[in-house]
Amino acid sequence: MRARTKIVAGNWKMNKTVAEAASLVEKLQKQLASFSGCEVVLCPPFTALASVAKLLKSTPQIRLGAQNLHPAPKGAFTGEISASMLREVGCQFVIVGHSERRRYFGETDAFLREKLLAAVSAGLHPIFCVGEDLPDREAGRWPDHLRSQLQGVLHALPLPVLSEIVLAYEPVWAIGTGRNATPEQAQEAHALLRQELERLHGQSIASRLTLQYGGSVTPQNARELLAQPDVDGLLVGGASLEAESFTSILLSVE
Ligand code: PGA
Repeated sequence: MRARTKIVAGNWKMNKTVAEAASLVEKLQKQLASFSGCEVVLCPPFTALASVAKLLKSTPQIRLGAQNLHPAPKGAFTGEISASMLREVGCQFVIVGHSERRRYFGETDAFLREKLLAAVSAGLHPIFCVGEDLPDREAGRWPDHLRSQLQGVLHALPLPVLSEIVLAYEPVWAIGTGRNATPEQAQEAHALLRQELERLHGQSIASRLTLQYGGSVTPQNARELLAQPDVDGLLVGGASLEAESFTSILLSVE
């Protein structure tokens, strides 16, 4: 079972060539040489995973994650990557169900559930993302939306699978918009997610899962978001693409 430790992950999305990735990692390694405030995960694009893995050998405290996987172990799935391929290249984490995957690639709850199962059976920790869009936020339907996303994917999932997951709350209206959830909104949503996890799987697992917030996290708002009792970490997009901003977010972890 994963411990409920603080974790900050950088989701680079479709950014960074191999050379750019190396330069960012080398800067981070220098700036974070003595950092031990939380778990740090970098999620480069597939093409940079192998070279980043090689660089990270000298700083095993910085871990490697992928942004996606296919649930099948292998076969005729042109363009896809399996969980064991990610493990082989050195990944310990994989993002599953990011709203961009749901929106642009039509990923459904049933498919995401398969991905979670495949990831955990290969020894990966999935960073499973949920979050409501703006109309659901504005109409006050966000609690129902979050409950249904959790239930749709996590219902009746075996506890050994569930206990390897990191859950990320990423309101779609906050992703890449510069409009982050306020610390109060993040806390309220995280508390609701924990409550729903408790209803689905019991108090013990609900209190032990790590819950990350993501959506326009910056060095300016990271500390306040992390100060919330149910916010155990951050999933950072844009601000993880520069060493200075990602480092200063990490340094705001107590
Ligand atoms: P952002 O992205 O920090 O650029 O808003 C977050 C994410 O999509 O994980």
